[in-house]
Amino acid sequence: MIIIDGKKVAEEIREEIKKEIVVLKEKHGRVPGLVTIVAGNESSSHIYVRSKIKACEELGIYSEARFLDENTPEDELLRIVDSYNEDLRFNGILVQLPLPKSIREEKVINLIKPEKDVDGFHPVSVGRLVAGSDTFFPCTPAGIQELIKRYGIETEGKHLVVVGRSNIVGKPIANIMLQKKKFANCIVTVCHSAAKDLKEYTRSADILIAAIGVPGFITGNMVKDGVAIIDVGINRVPDTSAKKGYRVVGDVDQASTAPKAAYFTPVPGGVGPMTIAMLMKNTLKSFLLSINN
Ligand code: GUN
Repeated sequence: MIIIDGKKVAEEIREEIKKEIVVLKEKHGRVPGLVTIVAGNESSSHIYVRSKIKACEELGIYSEARFLDENTPEDELLRIVDSYNEDLRFNGILVQLPLPKSIREEKVINLIKPEKDVDGFHPVSVGRLVAGSDTFFPCTPAGIQELIKRYGIETEGKHLVVVGRSNIVGKPIANIMLQKKKFANCIVTVCHSAAKDLKEYTRSADILIAAIGVPGFITGNMVKDGVAIIDVGINRVPDTSAKKGYRVVGDVDQASTAPKAAYFTPVPGGVGPMTIAMLMKNTLKSFLLSINN
């Protein structure tokens, strides 16, 4: 069984980007820019955004962060987002989700200029992905495909089963892996909570992607021998022996599934670190498109 080291791969990608930015700065006198916006007090959102800011600093990406109050009115957030649409210092606008209940996510996402949509959530980006055009892929699914690529996992004609149908992971990874391209071209099944007998589907998976949000949901009896397991879950479970009082586990029960798996992404250290690396890559891509147009 091969353990997929997302931390190491993410670090390699970050090094590649860092070197490219040094060259671009020499050549153009400018660097890519990313603004991150968080509204509300959700602690995990703040942790993610701080990691994104830190990554920008390390890679030489210009960044600005806006931390807004839980009670920020929707029209104020829309005004702020729109100001960054026009701000030439920034190639990427990232609004961390989820937003407070009083704000309609769709309104905010739809306002971001597609050329600055480094999250790949805008309907134009989603449409381009489904149509097979070049676009920004959402960062977590892009990171999953990058791991598949760098570990040389066979995908051509393989049965890829996605458990979970979110706009952030399930739907985009299904569409990415369905494309008639290298490191894709899979036969794709998307499962969700309405499945009557989930294991009927998961047991036939050559590649299984778990993005459910339930700790240890996928167990050994749900997978076949030789499966490649990609665990996207990041769940906090109480653990009195841990310093913080909790530990982070995935959606896959490692003890019962790992003995059957050919490849396995650990949690933490698998898919997680890839999300930020791909965000940096999308920001660089947006910068390159802006200077070449
Ligand atoms: N919340 C969870 N994942 C993501 C992500 O990739 N981007 C944004 N903007 N919010 C998220």
